[in-house]
Amino acid sequence: MLSSLISTLQGSPWLWIFVLLASPFLGTWLLSNVNARRSRNGEPPLIPYTVPWLGHGFFVAKDITGFGTWARKRYPHQDVLTAVVAGTHMYIVFDPKLAAIIYRRPKYFTFDPLALLSAKVFGAPQHDLDIIAIGTHGVARAPGYQDDGRRVHFDLHQLFPMLLEGPNLATMISKFMNALTADLNNEFPKDQDASGEWVTLDICDFVKKRMTLASITSLFGSHLRKIWPRIYEDFWEFDEVVQLLLLDLPHVLLPTAAARRKKMLNRLLHWREEACKHKSFEEIQEEDPDWDKYWGARLVRMSHSVLLKNGISVEGQEVFSLGILWGQNSNAIPVGIWMVVQSILDSDLHRRIRSEVLPHRNSDGTFDMNGLVTNTLLKSMFLEALRFSVASPSLRVVMETTQVSNYTFHKGSRVLIPGRELQMEKRVWSPNNEVPDALEFWAERFLDMDKGDNGDAERAAEAREANAQYADTDILKTKTKTAGTADRRRPKTSTDAISLPSSTTSKTIRDRMLSLRPFGGGVTLCPGRHVAMYKEIATLAILLSHFEIEVDEKALGTTGRPQPRTCTVGAMAPDRKLIVRMRRR
Ligand code: HEM
Repeated sequence: MLSSLISTLQGSPWLWIFVLLASPFLGTWLLSNVNARRSRNGEPPLIPYTVPWLGHGFFVAKDITGFGTWARKRYPHQDVLTAVVAGTHMYIVFDPKLAAIIYRRPKYFTFDPLALLSAKVFGAPQHDLDIIAIGTHGVARAPGYQDDGRRVHFDLHQLFPMLLEGPNLATMISKFMNALTADLNNEFPKDQDASGEWVTLDICDFVKKRMTLASITSLFGSHLRKIWPRIYEDFWEFDEVVQLLLLDLPHVLLPTAAARRKKMLNRLLHWREEACKHKSFEEIQEEDPDWDKYWGARLVRMSHSVLLKNGISVEGQEVFSLGILWGQNSNAIPVGIWMVVQSILDSDLHRRIRSEVLPHRNSDGTFDMNGLVTNTLLKSMFLEALRFSVASPSLRVVMETTQVSNYTFHKGSRVLIPGRELQMEKRVWSPNNEVPDALEFWAERFLDMDKGDNGDAERAAEAREANAQYADTDILKTKTKTAGTADRRRPKTSTDAISLPSSTTSKTIRDRMLSLRPFGGGVTLCPGRHVAMYKEIATLAILLSHFEIEVDEKALGTTGRPQPRTCTVGAMAPDRKLIVRMRRR
């Protein structure tokens, strides 16, 4: 057989060329298959690959969520795997208990390089990147690097929770609700001839636009919308290219993406110039209002102040504004859309939500928000919307070679915790088919009356550890007039966005909470999670109490039910329209 192969090769130079070209791939495949069958340096089992050095790099860069799903399907019983990704090893952790251990050891598994990468992705100039890199763990040092003690990411990280909770949160939510209500009143005017007439529209698009504009007002003040009439379109056009920008390629290879980012940054710089015409940065800082029509929320201003103190340029400060604008909108809004969509698709759920919402409506049409966010059905629905529609791939860099359970994680490697896979795990979310399948949306999934403890307690302890890091920092003490004690800044455990509804005590459900990872975990657990929860629940309450909304069954028959668009990172928007008839009640 071998001799006939050799004689065939001798007769055909093209075959030789093919064999020569294919041999590195074949060799890599054979070698990686051999390696996959034995433990190398105690690492988790290797996923065989074909392309030398690159391994699964292209797949990961193109669709990290899809890569997690593929790996899970192929190796359904492995708790951790090793993939080769552009010359480095990446450990994919499917076991929620191991994931929790990793989140809780930030010294060994750092988020720092991702913070630096996001500054780059949103367009920070090199001068600012050099400052942000100071003291950042897990990144290569440029020649001449000097540590002068500046810690931009750490300073911001300390600031976020206080600015996104307590009185600051309350102000942002009230501005959000006021803007949303005003826009809805504009679009569906009360007491006019057309009032009460049915309007046919795509509810996904409608909620997206209304939530985006109200969120922008709550963060950047109402003036921004006046000077930037296309902000809604520009923002979502920019959002479409963020995944491309994450590839960190030269601008010439991504001209559209680079141009859209530039447009966003220029507009934000213009916003700042306009705000300065109204009051200088020093004046507004001295005055320190919770929110200002031109300067927006304290969050934006205080973050700029920390960046300025660290020597970050004005352009770099607006890079941060862009990051916060994107972080808030691109994640919180699709989840908000899903909550509305699911409540419309299920008429029984729709009726029950309305009956839970209405007792919290005040006589002037506003809402008791604390009553809403502690309502057990609404909380369960919010958690289910996160589970169903958010795919957060948490990434960490291994700082020291470390033992995790039976595996050795080597220094310099990466860790990927694929949130989507944890949240879709059938064994966890619908064991023995006792409850609706993990792929289905089930608003009551987090409600149960059994007694017990565990996973949720673990998560609460994790959140407490994260919170302890922020308490009593100098920045908070000196700069904020309205934020008082640590107690005032912290939401009660039962209103924390990742806690279970207060009535749920079932051990099974509590254990599942370790597998709910939309907001990452550990010290960088998303500080904006409460903002997201309040805005999403507020939107649902306002829409369902002020409007009659009915599915257009004929259109639904043609398009089918919306599904999450799974090839995205973070919150996954519905993949199609949902046409409804809507009118003011
Ligand atoms: C449903 C909505 C949201 C989701 C799914 C989400 C998800 C995440 C995730 C996965 C992380 C990284 C955590 C880690 O790997 O440990 C993160 C960090 C962060 N998020 Fe969110 N987020 C949401 C809403 C928001 C909002 C509304 C804001 C601000 C208004 C925000 C601000 C931030 C910030 C500033 C960080 C960085 C934290 C740090 O470095 O210390 N997020 N978020």
